[in-house]
Amino acid sequence: MFTKIIATGSYLPEKVLTNDDLSKIVDTSDEWIRTRSGIRSRHIAADGEETSDLAVTAATRALAASGLSVLDIDLLVVATTTPDVIFPSTACIVQDKLGAKNAVAFDIQAVCSGFVYALSIVDRMVSTGQYKNALVIGAEIYSRILNWNDRTTCVLFGDGAGAVVVTRSETPGILATKLHSDGSRRAILNVPGHVRNGVVYGDPHVHMDGQAVFKMAVNVMADVCNETLAMANMTAADIDWLVPHQANVRIIDATGKKLGVAPEKTVVTVQGQGNTSAASIPLALDTAVRDGRIKAGDVVQTVGVGGGFTWGSALIRW
Ligand code: UT7
Repeated sequence: MFTKIIATGSYLPEKVLTNDDLSKIVDTSDEWIRTRSGIRSRHIAADGEETSDLAVTAATRALAASGLSVLDIDLLVVATTTPDVIFPSTACIVQDKLGAKNAVAFDIQAVCSGFVYALSIVDRMVSTGQYKNALVIGAEIYSRILNWNDRTTCVLFGDGAGAVVVTRSETPGILATKLHSDGSRRAILNVPGHVRNGVVYGDPHVHMDGQAVFKMAVNVMADVCNETLAMANMTAADIDWLVPHQANVRIIDATGKKLGVAPEKTVVTVQGQGNTSAASIPLALDTAVRDGRIKAGDVVQTVGVGGGFTWGSALIRW
């Protein structure tokens, strides 16, 4: 048995924050942000809008495209670094808001690699026959963990959610997945502090050594793609669409070059969304499915990288 993605959905909050808007908040410019990252604008969740709300809308759209009923879903996994609350899991909140009464629900925390981690776990749970229909969601509200006085981080991130519906299938499906972690590199990208009982310990905002993250990302993304390609007896020439984590166009370009995938075969959505962490890959998948680029039978290479450090790839036959 195999696991197949049968539908996608996504949601971006209504409010758009442009680079020019940001230049009124911090000492930056549209020119700097565009040339260093490729980002032009990002979406910001409204007050009162929670990560679970973004996830529910993305999931509802994916479900509508799948033709399945919410009651057909027996597994619901949310990848997020910005949960509504410490507990319950955002997945349990989404389960309730969606009415997915028959689902087992849990969160995965692997920062920007979270969606690929979740897809890999769900693949095992579905292809072994234990579960049949799953919702895999990446949803984030990074705007609430950014320091809006820190121009080195606040210009790079955005809010959003993407979802896929996967089902047990007699044909592949997910061809191969490979995950990696290196906790010894955690200092280059993290949220060092937290709030407990209203008391702030350390700094509860995103910290990043941009250049170190850049180098690490470029090095590991192509490598892990080659690992999954080898597992499936394929080469980069077999890839129809590369759907990488959307953090920076320069990282995406460098990964494509190292892997040997042409820019025309690479899905890039970071311009209008910024880095939406665990949501970025399912958001990009949904964009390319709905605009007709990704079609049935295509080989789609997804690859994520992020804080932890974590990285991983899922090679998919659409
Ligand atoms: O999901 C994974 C998460 N993160 C990433 O993937 C990000 C990886 N890193 C990057 O994308 C890039 O390193 C950045 C976009 C963060 C930065 O680009 P860079 O080319 O590495 O720039 P830099 O850090 O070397 O900074 C160059 C200059 C510095 O000024 P000095 O020291 O040369 O005078 C910074 O202070 O740009 C300055 N700078 C800014 N200037 C205007 C930093 N942020 C800004 C800003 N606006 N927002």
